[in-house]
Amino acid sequence: MKIGNLVGLVGWRGMVGSVLIDRMQAEGDFALIEPVFFSTSNAGGQAPALAKNETTLQDAYNIDALKRCDIIISAQGGDYTTAVFPKLRAAGWAGHWIDAASTLRMEKDAVIILDPVNMPVIQTALSQGGKNWVGGNCTVSCMLMGVGALYKAGLVEWMSTQTYQAASGGGAQHMRELLTQYGTLNAEVKALLDDPKSAILEIDRLVIAKQRSLSASETANFGVPLGGSLIPWIDKDLGIGKNHDEAGWGQSKEEWKGMAETNKILGQGEGFGSTAIPVDGFCVRVGAMRCHSQALTFKLKKNVPSADIEAMIAADNPWVKVVPNTREATIKDLTPVAVTGTMTIPVGRIRKLAMGPEYVGAFTVGDQLLWGAAEPLRRMLRILLQA
Ligand code: HSE
Repeated sequence: MKIGNLVGLVGWRGMVGSVLIDRMQAEGDFALIEPVFFSTSNAGGQAPALAKNETTLQDAYNIDALKRCDIIISAQGGDYTTAVFPKLRAAGWAGHWIDAASTLRMEKDAVIILDPVNMPVIQTALSQGGKNWVGGNCTVSCMLMGVGALYKAGLVEWMSTQTYQAASGGGAQHMRELLTQYGTLNAEVKALLDDPKSAILEIDRLVIAKQRSLSASETANFGVPLGGSLIPWIDKDLGIGKNHDEAGWGQSKEEWKGMAETNKILGQGEGFGSTAIPVDGFCVRVGAMRCHSQALTFKLKKNVPSADIEAMIAADNPWVKVVPNTREATIKDLTPVAVTGTMTIPVGRIRKLAMGPEYVGAFTVGDQLLWGAAEPLRRMLRILLQA
């Protein structure tokens, strides 16, 4: 049966939601749907100009209003999903729920959507009546858009990832806080910077003193200074394991997601009757704006020539781009500054490591608001409309 095109949009004003609306406009998605704009704060107000017949903002907590929709896309966040989704299903709604929040990701009846990587998993779930579609963790989605080819070919014995995650992963306020800190630090030493004869160690001393004395309000979002520093812990402490020697002990939630979500996206591991591929490493917040970067170490199941690895990665999807492992190409194309606002997922630094011919290193960057958040949602909408 064809799926209707009355599409509820929740959280469209936020950062992920705004990127989503931009992408939907750029790809002409609104021509295919009758959008219903929901609001958590301004129900009854005027819907944005993109509205067609549904020109009034609907109450995002009104189950009857939500129930009218054939499809709902939420970028409102996890608290909203927790509050509304169970009620909506309990009220008998049988529509498709597409969500950016992590709340439902690991539920048995939810698919983590990243169709260039796992279209077969999505199609199988669709044919079995699946209705819950959840975008993946941004780091995992960007990583698999880059090196998914190696997983698809069954070559990966394990992978270790060390991430360099942007402020945007925390949210809009985190980006503001980072920039404010940069400004505060610059202001502290501006006069000395302007004087070419000033002493760099004096500048450094003033900067560290300022970083260490930032007020609680200047570090309200990250908890500690990020500008000119880094934070090697993202998200909660999961409290896994009882002692230091247990795998997973002392893992952050972001690090846990690496293995759990990579395997679930690929339709592998627990729940699929197969063994999960080990994925582990450290997730680190750095002072980038909206691109997550990752240094990857693979242990492959066999020795594959680097040229073949590069060719497989390059051929995997239209967005991945292999960056030659030269200094010039790397510093030009393999940075957050180069990638921000683009759909390109560069993968570079591909080389055999000193540990042996099955050990391969790579570095990848992705815009965490595009492939890491908004894009898989709008692509799922298209898949449903074409189903
Ligand atoms: N958890 C990610 C981060 C963002 O904090 O960077 C969303 O997947």
